[in-house]
Amino acid sequence: MNEKHDYIAVFDSGVGGISVLRHLRKTLPGERFLYFGDSANAPYGSRPTEEVRALTLAAVEKLLAEYPLKALVIACNTATAAAVNDVRAAHPELIVVGIEPALKVAADHFPGGRVGVMATEVTLREEKFDTLLHRFDEDVTILKIPAPGLVELVEAGKVDAPETEALLKKILGPYLGKLDALVLGCTHYPFARKAIRRVLGDGVILLDGGEGTARETRRRLQQAGLLENGTGEVRICNSSPDPDMLRLSRERLQQED
Ligand code: DGL
Repeated sequence: MNEKHDYIAVFDSGVGGISVLRHLRKTLPGERFLYFGDSANAPYGSRPTEEVRALTLAAVEKLLAEYPLKALVIACNTATAAAVNDVRAAHPELIVVGIEPALKVAADHFPGGRVGVMATEVTLREEKFDTLLHRFDEDVTILKIPAPGLVELVEAGKVDAPETEALLKKILGPYLGKLDALVLGCTHYPFARKAIRRVLGDGVILLDGGEGTARETRRRLQQAGLLENGTGEVRICNSSPDPDMLRLSRERLQQED
């Protein structure tokens, strides 16, 4: 049986989901969070969908076997696109919240505007994203922007390095002056917000799905009577054998915007 004091697991392919964990902590300060980053297998976003699905399901099984969980937040757009339905089908007893690119927020704020969605190859090619896109493509012009290589730089801690800015110039250069908003459709990208802002300038609004995901998690817990008002706790685990990943994860948790 799920108990109030059980953990909320937060899962991502690596350190990216910590950008969602930061919102979760603000929205649900009395909860116990267990963060699991699968950095040993990152990046997920350039893998075949079947592999992402298998890795996600394996990570969820491991978490459920090792910890008492009352909810799971898939803080990874890629894993959500590839596997959220399978995770829900395998664990109907568990509250499962997935993240998706913040297109609704963009469409609400920029009717008739031009919105870029920067995300991984898996996210942009999956049916889930197509369905989302068709919900809003009459309200806004949506441009798909894959960003190969960016996740690797964030995983390596290079969130604001010259090479990160150089890669962003290459990726975003063709869109300069053409966007009203950019949706950061991968949870790693908010950590490179400063460099993205430098490349795009102040006129483009940056949006991500972290806050909406945290609100949805609170709503689901409240509905189930599982909200806890404790002292709050964060445990961080990572599949990488490199002990530096835990240091990098804690750095991301403390990073100023
Ligand atoms: N952080 C993940 C997302 O939100 C993907 C990173 C990866 O490619 O592993 O899509």
